Amino acid sequence: MLQDKVCVITGGSGSIGLATARLFIEQGAKVLLVDLSQAALDSAVADLPSDGVATCVADVGDVAQTRAFVDQAVTRWGRIDVLFCNAGNSGVIGGIEDYPDDGLDNVFRVHVRGAFLGCKYAVPHMNAGGSIIINSSVAGLGGSPGIYAYCTAKHAQIGLMRSLAKELAAKRIRVNSLHPGPIDNAFQTHIEDSFSPLMGGGDATALMNSMIPMGRHGQPLEIAKAALFLASDMSSFTTGSMLVADGGFTA
Ligand SMILES: NC(=O)c1ccc[n+]([C@@H]2O[C@H](COP(=O)([O-])OP(=O)(O)OC[C@H]3O[C@@H](n4cnc5c(N)ncnc54)[C@H](O)[C@@H]3O)[C@@H](O)[C@H]2O)c1
Repeated sequence: MLQDKVCVITGGSGSIGLATARLFIEQGAKVLLVDLSQAALDSAVADLPSDGVATCVADVGDVAQTRAFVDQAVTRWGRIDVLFCNAGNSGVIGGIEDYPDDGLDNVFRVHVRGAFLGCKYAVPHMNAGGSIIINSSVAGLGGSPGIYAYCTAKHAQIGLMRSLAKELAAKRIRVNSLHPGPIDNAFQTHIEDSFSPLMGGGDATALMNSMIPMGRHGQPLEIAKAALFLASDMSSFTTGSMLVADGGFTA
């Protein structure tokens, strides 16, 4: 479904990013994985085929480093077909009265500024048929007490996606957001472990499962498959949309 497509995945050595890279490569794509640590990237790509895979250390919140990873993909493969803005951090979790004054800054820097810069510098190298996917969350569709930075940033990504979709439709570049529910990985476990004390010591993971109609967390591969739909021509008339993959959590 992605034969010879050039795909850039930020947060590429993380759980969802790497699952997506693996699936995209299986589908014929060339993939550049972008993340903060070369050691983590090396270990992430260790069991991927070396042909058609590259890595780049970059902080998505930094202009020069964003330009560098875009340049790397373009120098190597001549263009970008798919940009998956997936890098993420969870930020502080806690009540509003004690929430740090600068608690939003680092989270916005990664999710909002990072996605904005990635799009700004990748778009000039994208052609008709291109696809941008912004990995938001169910946290972008509703509030959660104490998750102020993350929820607000994930909502903000939708505004970016919608505005870009309208501008870039004329170039036939599609822009959509993806909204995973709770995933069975370290990122979500950290959020749930931090959230449990706010519930008076209850088990946030068990509570979450009880709130998901399918009764379980998702797997990274299930999000990768949703990303594949948005990346490929299977979604050729889909732009400005929000694809939810959450086991019915927000139904
Ligand atoms: N895990 C979940 O339950 C869940 C649910 C909904 C949405 N998401 C979103 O999915 C995306 C991927 O998360 P994940 O679950 O794979 O977690 P993860 O921690 O495994 O992956 C996130 C990756 O982003 C990288 N990253 C963080 N800051 C960066 C920066 N400034 N520049 C470049 N890379 C940076 C991290 O190093 C990490 O490898 C995130 O945007 C997250 O908000 C996750």
